[in-house]
Amino acid sequence: MAENLMEKVVSLCKRRGFIFQSSEIYGGLSNTWDYGPYGVELKNNVKRAWWKSVVYEHNDIFGMDASILMHPQVWEASGHVQSFFDLKSDCKSCKKRFKAADLKKENKCPECGGQLTQARPFNLMFKTHKGPIEDEENLIYLRPETAQGMFVNFLNILDSKHPKLPFGLAQIGKAFRNEITPGNFTFRTCEFEQMEIEYFVHPKEAAKLLAEWIESRFNWYINLGISKENLRKRPHTQDELAHYALACTDIEYNFPFGWSELEGIANRTDFDLKQHAQASGKDLRFFDDSTKVRFYPYIIEPSGGVDRSVLAFLVDAYFEEKVKDDLRIVLKLHKDLAPVKVAVLPLLRNRPEIVELAKKIAQELKKDFITVYDDTGSIGKLYRRQDEVGTLYCVTVDVQSLEDKQVTVRQRDTMQQERISIDKLKEYLKEKLNS
Ligand code: GAP
Repeated sequence: MAENLMEKVVSLCKRRGFIFQSSEIYGGLSNTWDYGPYGVELKNNVKRAWWKSVVYEHNDIFGMDASILMHPQVWEASGHVQSFFDLKSDCKSCKKRFKAADLKKENKCPECGGQLTQARPFNLMFKTHKGPIEDEENLIYLRPETAQGMFVNFLNILDSKHPKLPFGLAQIGKAFRNEITPGNFTFRTCEFEQMEIEYFVHPKEAAKLLAEWIESRFNWYINLGISKENLRKRPHTQDELAHYALACTDIEYNFPFGWSELEGIANRTDFDLKQHAQASGKDLRFFDDSTKVRFYPYIIEPSGGVDRSVLAFLVDAYFEEKVKDDLRIVLKLHKDLAPVKVAVLPLLRNRPEIVELAKKIAQELKKDFITVYDDTGSIGKLYRRQDEVGTLYCVTVDVQSLEDKQVTVRQRDTMQQERISIDKLKEYLKEKLNS
């Protein structure tokens, strides 16, 4: 493993256009980040892989996209207004605020050594106002989890899809929390994306299905290339369970800053449906046609973070290798996640026939794969640049290509090169990339 791995990943992300500090020209805004050209591709690929695995590969899970802004009563009923807070202390001298869990015992400000106030609860939800008047009546929240958008649509799904139990809803979307914990790059941010499944089950089956979801979600990360030794399951102790959960297991990744949560898989029981039924006055029970019994299903919730997954995939894929006297930095991302699949590079950029042929090949490949064309450096420099962003195949066009109508294809991880006929190139890449 590379030394100072975290610093190296952060530096690569900025250097190559994966992730930038938000509002950087103004000095940045803490705990907020922007995804650049390669970052957004990687993020989209992570979301696509998740959606394919949980929506398209299941018969009983339906996709959803609910609003970020919801009726304020949702957050009363869900318990977030009363229970979703962190204990925080303020420094009496520099006025900075700290999460109590991050502070050492001696009650001193970690920044200036000043005295700290008693820890007080601060709700993590961002507040805003809807409409022209900024008063209590118009107070609304930015959602702190996507889950509630699925619970409040439970009846709509029953009425439109008529599903049998078990069935699930899946959603990817932004969530917001007023986090003050600094550091660790995109691990804990104020604005992030969640990938959540709410799986409605018969209460008797909840324990079994919870165990199955833990296994299935764990394997998702492994199948996308995360090394097994860097991933573990950690069941929650009773005192760390969220206010709605009967049981929960976290999938944790061994980040350079320690084992930390990527995803939590919880048994939320019938807490949410009951709370919303009571608060809205609507009957949110499920009617079982075969037994003619009406009851509240339990909910198994695999809830992961897009940004945390992206960070884990980046860290896990970062390699430094000695090649002759050079250091090669390469992102060995899974083929489904790599932002760029193919790069087409002319060996000599001062030979118009070679440049023209390379551009023509790139244009043709773009119809089927994410392909880039680059002629802004020597071939060594171009390879290094593509390795650093994890491009899977580099296609080089040289003088000989003009004669024999063949190109050199270089594989990212092995660096092995093969001569492939131009008219077979697409077929060759399809076989490699779609297998
Ligand atoms: N609906 C359940 C729920 O929201 P959570 O454990 O609070 O549970 C689920 O959040 C996932 O969302 C986490 O495992 C993590 O991946 C991501 N997440 C939560 N807070 C985050 C933050 N401040 N920054 C980035 N990701 C976060």
